[in-house]
Amino acid sequence: MAPIERDGEVDRPACTTSLLNKQLVFVTGKGGVGKTTISVALAMLAARKGMKTLLCEADGSGDFPSYLGSGPIKYKEREVLERLYAMSMDTEAALREYLHIFMHMPVVGRIGPLASAFDFVASAAPGVKEILITGKLCYEVREHNYDLVIVDSAATGHVISHLAAPQVLNNLVQVGLIRSQTGWMLDILSNHEITGLLVVATPEEMPVSESIELIGKAEKETTVGLVATVMNRVFPELFVQSEEDIFKKLCTDHGREKLAQVLNGGPDTLLEAARMAVEIRRSSTLHIDRMRQALGRDVPLLNIPYFFDPGTPYELASKVAGALGDEIGA
Ligand SMILES: Nc1ncnc2c1ncn2[C@@H]1O[C@H](COP(=O)(O)OP(=O)(O)OP(=O)(O)O)[C@@H](O)[C@H]1O
Ligand SMILES: [Mg+2]
Repeated sequence: MAPIERDGEVDRPACTTSLLNKQLVFVTGKGGVGKTTISVALAMLAARKGMKTLLCEADGSGDFPSYLGSGPIKYKEREVLERLYAMSMDTEAALREYLHIFMHMPVVGRIGPLASAFDFVASAAPGVKEILITGKLCYEVREHNYDLVIVDSAATGHVISHLAAPQVLNNLVQVGLIRSQTGWMLDILSNHEITGLLVVATPEEMPVSESIELIGKAEKETTVGLVATVMNRVFPELFVQSEEDIFKKLCTDHGREKLAQVLNGGPDTLLEAARMAVEIRRSSTLHIDRMRQALGRDVPLLNIPYFFDPGTPYELASKVAGALGDEIGA
């Protein structure tokens, strides 16, 4: 059901998680678990639901064009699908925009010497570079330019420094301009109705361990709340219990003989593949359970299946958007 536009506000779809009710979502997780796929899929889902959505690539990987089926994506956002705008983060462009908006400096092509001075300060003071990135995203929320801003964030190690930047600077500088600049950002980031962290993992040992560690760190070092976790690339259940009994019979010598007659050849490869799929599914269940226990009851754990025939990255993201919509009831 498409939401109805009212005075520039969207009537957000009712869903079991408040994911689509947020205005700013940071997507993170271990490298390669599907952060970009999930970010793009969530943006597609939101845009399909009628929400004007900004999708920002903060990790500088340059993967967006293939996932969005678009041309190059730069700092200046552009509409790549209906209601879906995409941009790629660029610290120098963010600094230029900041100086223009907040310091009323004229827009210039390059800010060479200033950028060098900035680099010098940024290297000396923690959080200065990060605040430009986080600040740009918070600014889009503050100005109500979009219904939802989704950030394909850096992998687990770096995301905390981005989210904690306003807090770090706030503690460092107690008065003056910087303080007034970080206060409103902190208000946005700390408001759990507005901002949420979405952690993506796959049902394997390391991604789950890293996610649990990240969630603990985010809780301790930032004011941003966890909105949900996505378990991506979950193997489907191959057999129900009754089918598993049949499978066991097929694996006996007698069963193999019968199968060989029907298949006109050895069934070993087929049976091995099925056995492997069952094993993977079983071990993933253990990792999913571990994640669920670590999260507690209040945080939703969304399962996205492994698509064995993903097609292009754009096609995969579209399929994942459908699966995500089913999971959150949107
Ligand atoms: N549900 C899925 N089913 C099948 N393949 C998937 C699924 N989700 C992601 N993939 C595949 O997994 C790979 C990694 O996905 P993606 O690029 O989104 O991960 P990432 O976390 O953004 O990686 P990086 O840390 O390098 O930025 C890609 O090849 C993608 O096509
Ligand atoms: Mg990525």
